[in-house]
Amino acid sequence: MAEISLRRITKAYGAHVALPALDLDIEKGKFVTLLGPSGCGKTTTLRVIAGLETTSGGEVIVAGQTVDAPGAGVFVPPERRGLGFIFQSYALWPNMKVGRNVTLALSERKMPAAEVSARLAEALAKVQLTGLEDRYPSELSGGQQQRVAVARLIAARNAILLMDEPLSNLDAKLRTEMRTELKRLHRELQATTVYVTHDQVEALTMSDVIVVMKDGVIQQQGTPYEIYHEPANLFVAEFIGDPRINLIEGTVGSLAGQRVLQVAETGLVLPLPAGVSPDAPGAIAAIRPENIVVHPQPSPGAVAAEVDVVQPTGSQTILSVSVNGVPLTVLVPRFERDLAGRKLWLSFPPEHVRFFDTGTGQRLVPASLAPASAA
Ligand SMILES: Nc1ncnc2c1ncn2[C@@H]1O[C@H](COP(=O)(O)OP(=O)(O)OP(=O)(O)O)[C@@H](O)[C@H]1O
Ligand SMILES: [Mg+2]
Repeated sequence: MAEISLRRITKAYGAHVALPALDLDIEKGKFVTLLGPSGCGKTTTLRVIAGLETTSGGEVIVAGQTVDAPGAGVFVPPERRGLGFIFQSYALWPNMKVGRNVTLALSERKMPAAEVSARLAEALAKVQLTGLEDRYPSELSGGQQQRVAVARLIAARNAILLMDEPLSNLDAKLRTEMRTELKRLHRELQATTVYVTHDQVEALTMSDVIVVMKDGVIQQQGTPYEIYHEPANLFVAEFIGDPRINLIEGTVGSLAGQRVLQVAETGLVLPLPAGVSPDAPGAIAAIRPENIVVHPQPSPGAVAAEVDVVQPTGSQTILSVSVNGVPLTVLVPRFERDLAGRKLWLSFPPEHVRFFDTGTGQRLVPASLAPASAA
């Protein structure tokens, strides 16, 4: 059952429509991430759930209770929605020390002092701030202040957690550690979590469900695996994945009785899956850099490529190659040093190639798999 439901939510700031009509169901206990570029409406959606924004239309339901429905004159204020949250600007009380910032809500709930201090110690340890409880926020770095906000959330143990970019001010190492900690916290508390980020690695590593947004509109909602491997449109395909997915435009034709996408410049011929028959004369094929197979010698069905730039990242190497002038990115799972200027042969395993409509950018799927209603 959905713990949080947004039904046809509209939100406008003056003439600017941030959310045209958002429908979203978030299941109890799930870690759901709103992901998308700056300005796509992630924070707005979270603030609507929290009750920090009023909507212009629609209905918000939290734990079975309608908390916002302008049509019916319903609006439940944030403090009565039972949510824990961290916002993009992690507001700490400047006049309170770290310890008090973390435990304020607990004291207000009249929790016994011994339990309050136990929770404080546990929460500070989890964010690696043990010993700093007597500092004021102004005596902390930005990343430390952000971790105080996370500690406050850990200590409160709400059943629903809302987090807006809670790790954005941390350095890379600490961010990875905190990611693990938040994921573990979610597993322990089983709290329904709505997490906002524009960082795809955070989304992929932490989420049960990723909701990809653009211009206030959900582009796709699915597991990290589905979002990465079965993108619904070109926007999702390109937004997720680093290095970026390769897009290759081609012409629909047939070869030996098989429907194919041909890329004239490169000699590349990609078989179209059974049942995929674009209406248009062309289509776009997409393949992730790690799925292109590299052969050191000519190989049947492989096209020749010239290696232009070689970028080892340690465990992997990003190769920028050119197939007869068409640039592609290839990712190999090892440290490569001596490939610049070399010739390689590339093949494109059909199970890893996805096809998209050139005009709409929508994924081309066999008619048998297409959703009954796309509207
Ligand atoms: N108070 C406001 N007044 C006017 N426009 C606003 C206001 N808050 C947000 N907007 C606009 O609404 C849109 C969505 O903003 P929102 O803050 O939800 O984006 P976001 O996805 O969280 O982006 P970011 O990743 O940069 O935090 C943006 O175009 C933004 O400029
Ligand atoms: Mg935001």
